[in-house]
Order: sequence, then structure tokens, then C-alpha cells
Amino acid sequence: MVDALLARGDQVLVVDDLSTGDRANLDGRAELRVADVSDRGALERALAGERIGGVVHCAAKTKVVESMEKEELYRDVIVRGTENVVGLARQTGASIFVNISTGGAIYGETPVCAEENTPVDPRSNYGRFKAQAEQIVAGSRMPAVSLRLANIYGPRQRRDLEGGVIAIFIECWKRRRSITMFGDGRYERDYVYVGDVVEAVVAALGGKWTGVYNIGTGVATSVNDLVRELTALLGVPPGVTHAPPRPAEVLRGCVDPSKAAREDLWRPRTGLRDGLRRTARAEGALPG
Ligand SMILES: NC(=O)c1ccc[n+]([C@@H]2O[C@H](COP(=O)([O-])OP(=O)(O)OC[C@H]3O[C@@H](n4cnc5c(N)ncnc54)[C@H](O)[C@@H]3O)[C@@H](O)[C@H]2O)c1
Repeated sequence: MVDALLARGDQVLVVDDLSTGDRANLDGRAELRVADVSDRGALERALAGERIGGVVHCAAKTKVVESMEKEELYRDVIVRGTENVVGLARQTGASIFVNISTGGAIYGETPVCAEENTPVDPRSNYGRFKAQAEQIVAGSRMPAVSLRLANIYGPRQRRDLEGGVIAIFIECWKRRRSITMFGDGRYERDYVYVGDVVEAVVAALGGKWTGVYNIGTGVATSVNDLVRELTALLGVPPGVTHAPPRPAEVLRGCVDPSKAAREDLWRPRTGLRDGLRRTARAEGALPG
């Protein structure tokens, strides 16, 4: 996202505590200030004297399983952190606030891909607090959008975080290591390419839209299907290890992106096969 904003000529100021973020990912033209969003004073110091046009709020703890063990930490960073970021965005004069929310963890089980008016049913503390963060953003007196993102994948995704199944699998293929399947591999998720998500965020920063929008493909892909796609691209997996299902995981998570398309905010562009190929190339698992 920073790369896209710099490419169109924006000045970018990043605030991050680097707890999972990596300075090496950041273009040197973007300024980085290290601060914890749950610490109002630290955030105020990081932004002192700044005038800011638009804010994209991404900072969060993001592990579903960990959120069940570290409830206080997740409440602090996601709920208090969002309150602080919203408050300071107003003070710095921002005219648009883009909140990065989650579809996967908010809707719960979605036998039919969820629309924005589908009642939320978060199964984890992570999802519950992200839903509260949306309420905080909606209650702010500034134009604001919450983007409920599906499962993102693409180049430079970390492999040690929970959601990065594609990053993890591609690395296993590359290093000739066995892949681990949780449960029976029939878990379904809506995988959306990072470049497409960036387009949604940049569009939302344009300031013409407010409210909640799903950003996903509307297609649910099982882990078994994912393995089939990767096999077509990279060859037979080096090995498959089976492990028990993980707690607080939904069986099927999928968001319907029709509202964003209908209202001309965004449409998904990159199909799974194409996105997997680009990711595998960028990660050095496929030549060229
Ligand atoms: N990855 C996905 O598939 C996905 C899907 C839906 C929503 N999201 C949302 O996207 C956002 C980014 O998540 P991600 O998956 O890229 O994970 P990530 O861990 O790579 O990114 C989170 C970022 O927030 C920073 N951060 C964490 N705690 C902080 C704190 N207290 N103060 C300041 N910075 C802090 C981290 O250092 C990191 O740079 C999150 O809001 C997450 O809920 C991600």
C-alpha cells in the first residue's frame, strides 16, 4: 500500500510498533515512526505537528488463536488502538479514514458468501474486537470507510503468522518441505490478491464512499483446492502432514464484494491461478 501511495506521488508517514512489521519492507521514501497505537501519549508524540490528508488504519494483532489466550492485549491494540488512531486522525485534520477490517473473522460461518448486512457473528476475540473497532470508526465524526477484507495473499507475506497459508505452502514447495493440513483440508476461504486489496484502499482514500464494504472475490476455495492449484503450478507437494483442526476456526469464510462493484468503489481483478503464479514468482518458487 505504501508503495502504491508513493508511486502516485503521496507523502507517506507510517506509524508502527514493528511487533510484526518489518522496516525492510518499507520504501526509504516513507517516513517511519515507531509507536504503539494503544499508547495514546506515544501516538501523540509520533504525530505531533503533522497535518495529514487521509489515514489508513491497519495496525492490529491478527492471530485468531492467540487472541483467545491474550484477550487483554488484543482489546488494547484493536479497540483502544482504534480509539486513539481515530481521535488523532481528527486532530491532524484528516478528511478520510480508511479502517482495515476483516470479513473472514467477523461474519463467522458463511454457507453463502456474506453481504455487508449479514449479521456479524465473530467466533474469536480477534473478530469481536475488530467488530468493535468498526463501531468506533462509524461513530467518529469524519468520513470513514471500513473495508472488510477476505484472506489476503501475495508477495512478501510473512510465513509465521496464522493466516498466511499460501505463503507457508509456497515456501514448503520451494524448500522441499512437507505441508501441514489442519483437519480434513475442506476449510474454505476467500483468497484475495494483495495488489487488488491495495487498489481498494487507494480508491477508498479518494473520499467518495463511507460505510462498510466487503473486499474479497466472492469465491470460496478449500485448502484441498489450493493444494490442487499449487500442484498444477509447482508440481507434486514435497509431502503432506495432517494435524488436528485449529480452535475458533470457521469452516467456510467468504465475502460477497457486489456492493463495492455496484457502487463503483472496487472489483477483484486477479484470479487465484494468476495470483498464485505471481506470488510464487516473487518468492522465487517459480522461475522468471
Ligand atoms: N492478512 C489478512 O488476510 C487480513 C485479512 C483481513 C484483515 N486484515 C487486517 O489487515 C491489517 C494488517 O494485518 P496483516 O495481516 O498485514 O498483519 P501484520 O501483522 O503483518 O500487520 C499488522 C501491522 O500492525 C503493526 N502493529 C501491531 N500492533 C501494533 C501496535 N500496538 N501499534 C502499532 N503497530 C502495531 C505490526 O507491526 C504490523 O506492521 C490488520 O488490521 C488485520 O486485521 C488482514
